[in-house]
Amino acid sequence: MAVAGLDSVRRSDKARVLRGTASFSRFSCRSRAALVAPLGCLGARHKHALPDLPYDYGALEPHISAEIMQLHHSKHHAAYVNNLNVTEEKYKEALAKGDVTTQVSLQPALRFNGGGHINHTIFWTNLSPNGGGEPKGELMEAIKRDFGSFANFKEKLTAVSVGVQGSGWGWLGYNKEQGRLQIAACANQDPLQGTTGLIPLLGIDVWEHAYYLQYKNVRPDYLKAIWNVINWENVSSRYASCKK
Ligand SMILES: [Fe+2]
Repeated sequence: MAVAGLDSVRRSDKARVLRGTASFSRFSCRSRAALVAPLGCLGARHKHALPDLPYDYGALEPHISAEIMQLHHSKHHAAYVNNLNVTEEKYKEALAKGDVTTQVSLQPALRFNGGGHINHTIFWTNLSPNGGGEPKGELMEAIKRDFGSFANFKEKLTAVSVGVQGSGWGWLGYNKEQGRLQIAACANQDPLQGTTGLIPLLGIDVWEHAYYLQYKNVRPDYLKAIWNVINWENVSSRYASCKK
């Protein structure tokens, strides 16, 4: 395993992350009212922890360099985790005081750092040194049904991801109400499910910190390379889970 967590790690959470099934239900709600209720239970909560990567920092080379992976995981993701914990502590204090003004003022930080933690935790499991190629089984059938072909899907997700203005993410998500796959773009660290209702299957981080050291400003080259390390087993597993 590449790196130990920064905080004391809840072993059950860590195990779920390594299986790619981490649950972040507290962030899945879309309304403010729904957001506040779970946070009201913070008295008994554990701190969030940086999950270990399920592979070494250099394992995705030559497609993503070890230097990028190390900084991305141990600095960027770690910062989201630390700032999320700080924000939740402040939120807990504001709730205890009945200070609604402070609660409201903390929500952008919660969205940004909570989203950063959710998104990166999914992202690491979406990648694998044994990835690439094409998905199989039900996921492939659904891709063909909803996008016409795998090539068409790949082209569309690439285009949406390349086209994100500034920092953000390209996503393949599942629309549970309509029973179909959808492609979406999210700005900054907006979490897919919390802001669109789509269940995340595959996320592509297009923040410059994800590629600049290797690909400079040429985001399309990074997008071209990342398909070589997509963990289709993980994406398929997520698809199977959200259909249940
Ligand atoms: Fe990132």
